[in-house]
Amino acid sequence: MSIRRRNGKSWSDNDFESIRLPDEKKSSKTYCFKSKHATKACVFIPLLIIIFFGIIHLLDVYFGYVPAFLDDPASSQVDWSKPGDSSSDIASHLLDITRDVTPIPCHSHNDYWRKVPLYDALRWGCTGVEADVWLLDDELYVGHHTNSLTQNRTLKSMYVDPLVKMLDHKNEVSEFATSSSVKNGIFDTEPAQTLVLLVDFKNNGHEIFPVVSQHLTTLREKGYLTYFDGKFTIEGAITVVATGNAPFDLIIANTTYRDIFFDAPLDMLYEDPTSNTPESDVVYTTKRGGQGTVGTSPTSHFDSTNSYYASVNFGSTIGWLWFGRISDAQITKIRGQIRYAHARGLKARYWSTPKWPIRLRSKVWKVLVEEGVGYLNGDDLQGMTRVDWGMKKHWSLLTWANKESMDA
Ligand SMILES: *[C@@H]1O[C@H](CO)[C@@H](O)[C@H](O)[C@H]1NC(C)=O
Ligand SMILES: *[C@@H]1O[C@H](CO)[C@@H](O)[C@H](O)[C@H]1NC(C)=O
Repeated sequence: MSIRRRNGKSWSDNDFESIRLPDEKKSSKTYCFKSKHATKACVFIPLLIIIFFGIIHLLDVYFGYVPAFLDDPASSQVDWSKPGDSSSDIASHLLDITRDVTPIPCHSHNDYWRKVPLYDALRWGCTGVEADVWLLDDELYVGHHTNSLTQNRTLKSMYVDPLVKMLDHKNEVSEFATSSSVKNGIFDTEPAQTLVLLVDFKNNGHEIFPVVSQHLTTLREKGYLTYFDGKFTIEGAITVVATGNAPFDLIIANTTYRDIFFDAPLDMLYEDPTSNTPESDVVYTTKRGGQGTVGTSPTSHFDSTNSYYASVNFGSTIGWLWFGRISDAQITKIRGQIRYAHARGLKARYWSTPKWPIRLRSKVWKVLVEEGVGYLNGDDLQGMTRVDWGMKKHWSLLTWANKESMDA
C-alpha cells in the first residue's frame, strides 16, 4: 500500500473499523454457540451477576444486625397445652390463658397449624385467628387441604366450643357483681377487645354460609357476637369474618341483622393519599377472583355495615421488593389502600407478606404498622408481638380524626 499517512495511528484505526465491523456484527449473533469457551461465558457471566447481587443482598441483611435466618428459639420452649389435648378437652387452666396478656392487632394466619390452635394465638395476645373450613357431609372440617382433614378437627371442636366455654367463664356472675348486658371479651386486661374469628370458606361458599351461620347459634344467643342491627355495628366479644369463597351477596342479603362480616378486596379499594377529598376518587384497580370477590358486583359497597377486614395478597398487589427495598411507589400504594380502608371503617390486612429473611419480614411489618395497617397477618406470633406497636404514624389529620371518631 502506498498511502501517505500524516498520522499512522489514526489511519490504522479507521482501517481496522471499516474492515472488521461487518465481521463482528455477524459473529455477535452466533457468539454463544460459536465455541465451547463462548458457551461457558454465556452461562457463567449471568451466573456471576446473580451471585454478585446475592452477596450484596446478604450483606444488606447482615448490616441490619438482626437475626436474619432464625428467630429467637425461646418461643418454642413455652408449652401451655399440658395437661391434656386442648382441642378435645378444654382444660380449666386454659380458660385463664389471657389473664396477663396485652392484646395486639396481630392475626394468626392458618391458626390451626399452631402447636396449640387458638390458645397459642391468645397467649401471645393476637386478636385474630383463622380457620380454613371445608364443608363435607354437613360438617365443617378445619384444614388447608382436604387430605389434611380429620374427624376431630372441626370448626365446632377447635374454635366454637372453646370460645363459648372461655366466654362463659369470663362472664360468670359473681354474687357481688351488678348484672350487666355488656359481655366481657376474651382478654382479661381489655374486656372490650373483640377477637376476630376469620373463617376461610374453602369449597362452595353459598353452601358453607348457612352452615357457618348455624354453627354460631350458641355464640349469637349468648350475646357474644359483633352484629349489625340495620343501622349500626355493635362490637361483641367475637367478630366473625368470612373470607375465601365467602359470598358477599349472602352476607348482605339480610338488611336488618348481620353477624358474619365480609373480608373486602383491599386491592380494589384505593384512594389517592395526596388528595384531601376522601372517598371521592376511588379507583378500582384490579379484576381477579378469590378472596373478596365472590358474590360481588362492580357497584358493591364495602364498609363497616357488611365488612370488617379489607385484605389482599401483599406480593400480588404491592409487587416484588427488589433487594429488600420498598419503593416510594409501593409505599404510596400501601398508603392509599390503608387510607381507603380507614375511611370505610375497615381494618386493612396484607397476607403473604415476605417471611424470609427475618429482617425483611420485620421491615415490611414495621412499614405496615407505621402506615396504620389494621392487622398484621403472620405465622410467627411472637415475631408479631415484637413489632414496635407504639410508633404508629398518622399521615394526615383527616385520618387521625377519622380514627379517633371510630375508636370513640
Ligand atoms: C380424636 O380424639 C380422640 C380423643 O379425643 C383421640 O383418641 C384420637 O386419636 C383422635 N383422632 C385423631 C385422628 O386425631
Ligand atoms: C334477618 O335476620 C333476622 C334475625 O335473624 C330475622 O328475624 C329476619 O327475619 C331476617 N330478615 C330477612 C329479610 O331475612
